[in-house]
Amino acid sequence: MSLPFLRPVQRTLLYAFGALPLILAQTVLGSTPLGAGDPAWLSYKPVESAIVFPGGIPDTVVELGSGVLQDSAAREISAGWRGMLQHEPRLAHEEGNDSERQVVLGTSTQIEAWRPHQLPTASLAHDAYKLYWNKNFLVIEGGDDRGILYGTFALLREIAEQHSLMTLSQKSTPWAAIRWTNEWDNPNGTIERGYAGPSLFFEDGRVRADLSRAAAYARLLSSVGIDGCTINNVNADINLLRPENLHEIARIADVFRPYGVRLSLSVDMSSPQVIGGLKTFDPLAPQVAEWWKTKVDEIYDEIPDFGGVVIKADSEGRVGPSKYGRTASDAANVVARALKRHGGVVLYRGFVYNNHLDWRDMKADRARAGYDNFHPLDGKFDDNVIVQIKYGPIDFQVREPVSPLLAGLPHTNEAIELQITQEYTGQQRHLMYLVPMWKKSLDTDMRASAVAAPLPVKLLVSGRATATEHHTQGGFVGVANVGTEEWLANPLALANLYGFGRLAWDPGLDAETISDEWTRLTFGNDSQVRTTVNKLELNSWHIYESYTGPLGIGTLTDILGSHFGPGIESAERNGWGQWIRADERGVGMDRTVATGTGYIGQYPAPLAATYESLATCPDQLLLFMHHVPYTYRLHSGLTVMQSIDNTHYEGANAAAQQVSEWEALRGKVPDATFAEVMKRLTYQAGAAIVWRDAVTRWFTRESGVQDAIGRVGNYPNRIEAESMTLTGYKAVDVTPWETASGGKAVVCNLPECSAETTWTGSDGWYDVSVQYFDLMQGHSEFALAVAGHQVDRWSADDTLPGATLNGSTSTRRVFNRVAIHHGDSIQLTGRPDGEEKAPLDYLTIMPTAAHAGVFMNAVQ
Ligand code: GCU
Repeated sequence: MSLPFLRPVQRTLLYAFGALPLILAQTVLGSTPLGAGDPAWLSYKPVESAIVFPGGIPDTVVELGSGVLQDSAAREISAGWRGMLQHEPRLAHEEGNDSERQVVLGTSTQIEAWRPHQLPTASLAHDAYKLYWNKNFLVIEGGDDRGILYGTFALLREIAEQHSLMTLSQKSTPWAAIRWTNEWDNPNGTIERGYAGPSLFFEDGRVRADLSRAAAYARLLSSVGIDGCTINNVNADINLLRPENLHEIARIADVFRPYGVRLSLSVDMSSPQVIGGLKTFDPLAPQVAEWWKTKVDEIYDEIPDFGGVVIKADSEGRVGPSKYGRTASDAANVVARALKRHGGVVLYRGFVYNNHLDWRDMKADRARAGYDNFHPLDGKFDDNVIVQIKYGPIDFQVREPVSPLLAGLPHTNEAIELQITQEYTGQQRHLMYLVPMWKKSLDTDMRASAVAAPLPVKLLVSGRATATEHHTQGGFVGVANVGTEEWLANPLALANLYGFGRLAWDPGLDAETISDEWTRLTFGNDSQVRTTVNKLELNSWHIYESYTGPLGIGTLTDILGSHFGPGIESAERNGWGQWIRADERGVGMDRTVATGTGYIGQYPAPLAATYESLATCPDQLLLFMHHVPYTYRLHSGLTVMQSIDNTHYEGANAAAQQVSEWEALRGKVPDATFAEVMKRLTYQAGAAIVWRDAVTRWFTRESGVQDAIGRVGNYPNRIEAESMTLTGYKAVDVTPWETASGGKAVVCNLPECSAETTWTGSDGWYDVSVQYFDLMQGHSEFALAVAGHQVDRWSADDTLPGATLNGSTSTRRVFNRVAIHHGDSIQLTGRPDGEEKAPLDYLTIMPTAAHAGVFMNAVQ
């Protein structure tokens, strides 16, 4: 019987650190060339041109106007024609022979001048487009030049999906004017909550010399209708506003411009004092207003199409107007007035809360903060201020009710802030397609009046006035935090960037359509690929939610550390206000008006009534709204505790299933993409078990309520490292205890240690998993031997987010089909590297499932 070798699991992700305040380096450092990077959904794979253009491919592209945006559109058509139709079109400024099929690009005005005799079309709004045939001419008509570019990308999308364009006739207008991404990049090149490597824009304290990746990013953004990008962290480095830096930043605006993306900056309210040298930054002081005016004029001298600024103030340690007893509207307006004559806007963040709340105070509630702080200011903001509001009242959790502030500002412009970077939702190591979650918020009917028409959130952020709402601007902001590692590092996570843009353009699109579009554009039109990828994407929110934070409780991640692995009690007994209020009797925040914090009363009455009553509060939000005993029966019929156990087991099983689903696409998607996704799904399958065990064991211990089917705490195929025969290894307690099996691990303080056990089961083929810890720093070496034969060795070379043993650094190595005989010794050897002491948690040995050679992730 031979002992097979198994698949190496390697992870080489770079974890981006949190915000580091820094002074810009003065020296010019060498810049790494970046190139344009992954084409993502603009890969322009070949299609059947006879299906798309049954009457022949138009082979001339006529630009009726001139300028960078029309040039970009024409260039894009050439690229699309080359890639998808294997055809090189001729670019021209005048139409050719009428009998030839041609593509014509022009604004409505240019089209009218070109075809004066045709019936004028209803005028197109800014950024809107129409696609239609006029005899032999396929016309891309834009409300303006940017509309032409958006129409071009829409046409190319149709071709990539291999639709027949014989009767093409489409008109599209963006839902809202603000369609921005925020990037939380720091001048030193790190990205706060970025999970895909360093910044596209900055390096070593300067703007990168090579901005080709930034240009490629603008192209991607433009292809889904995104018209603005804020390039720096909301925890803004104040030095960026210095003249020499603005001059450099203008280079980024230059590469954005051909794609119609306007650059904007996050600014700090104390700038007039810190870099302006004033004695104050009081927004009502005339010299402060003057300083902002001069600074904004200086910005527009450098960047004539500057979009505006994002402001985070009086929040998480950022200073703000409260220092002078002033309000958010005072602060926003002083900057907005400086921007007004240039057409710029202020996005003032509604994320203002006290992070030193008294956790003993049962009436204290962070969720109330947005509404409490901003609702009294409704109507006091200038018309070029837009309040930027996170979708939920806490902070980008896996499930939150929609923020009541969205319905609390009927006389103020609003934008919804969504998070594309997966901070609390698995940091792109876990698959989570966010579009269904965003849709849930956008479609929530705030029902401001029980009798009036529905008031979905998407309407509130559209910038449109209604009978009850007086908005002049609005929109969508997506915190993207893309990096140099293939934008979001996980190929499947790109559906979120794509989906954000598509939703911001048209929030009426459904999550399935967006996923399918993205899949076809990225991978082509193969039906098996489409079915598999769509299924993975569409199920992923449910799966991630079910093994992390159920019933609206919050994500249950370590909120004081990396926001990644489980850390249940990190939410409790501190000032951050993400409390879950779990004790031996019950769980959940009582936010009712009757007995709780009164948060529910911030919603319009009909919605408040739904949440206030246990009879009508949806199970999915139960623990966000109510404190209930573990034995409380849900609408599903299960008790709270049984539901926690069941969802966590189901979630971990479903995460394992994703691996086999993806396996079916081997050879059907590019090899590198296949491997990258497989690596991540495999990691996720293991991490879901860590989550499952942490959450179910913690709640079982807290509640004293046992799992009705005896799964929790009972792991028959598991051998704890601390119970093996240890040579050199020492057992240590892991904190928090629930993140290691048995609460313990073993670590090695010598050059080499081993842990050994004797197999007491029968002879056979087994899948062996080693659960160990892989810290951000250090590359410990491990080896596994069975009956004295080494079956594998590997290096703990991942950069999981953390420097200690816990649920964020716990990971596993899986070996399938290992031959083991009764009485064989199974030995793990570890060699530490620096502070990473070759830590081991446990070993699982499971009989190999029937399908030899198929990669399995048995959930045990
Ligand atoms: C989260 C995130 C921070 C960020 C903050 C914000 O709390 O963890 O890194 O600064 O949101 O949105 O301002």
